[in-house]
Amino acid sequence: MKKILVINGPNLNLLGLREPAIYGNRDFKALEAFILENGLDLGLQIELFQSNHEGAIVDKIQQAYGVFDGIVINPAAYTHTSVAILDALKGVAIPTVEVHLSDVDSREEFRRHSFVSLYASKVIKGKGFDGYREALEYFSGK
Ligand code: DQA
Repeated sequence: MKKILVINGPNLNLLGLREPAIYGNRDFKALEAFILENGLDLGLQIELFQSNHEGAIVDKIQQAYGVFDGIVINPAAYTHTSVAILDALKGVAIPTVEVHLSDVDSREEFRRHSFVSLYASKVIKGKGFDGYREALEYFSGK
């Protein structure tokens, strides 16, 4: 069974409360339940991790080396700023899919650039929770 680490970055824990017109009304617990349900359905072993701290995300990626077969990451605001997260992903060289709930290309100009996209095998934008399902499907081959 493939082991997949799902990382959610800063402020995603505020889902439901946070800009519902952009991110929807469902909360972070619902997102985590959705990811676990879909992982089970696709025959994947899932570990969930959320942090508001860049260094904690870097540490988690480093610890994933030799443990996980794939990473699904929504780096949130760090998408657009973090060379450290990009370097950590390149360092461990674990296949990675980048997910964004919103369509980052149709929002502010600064959201159009992603450091993580320079490494990710696939980038999914603007599909809400379903984007995480699509990312997991990439690893399950379904
Ligand atoms: C986000 C998009 C980012 O630009 C933003 O900073 C987030 C969430 C998304 O899921 O749409 O926090 O990654």
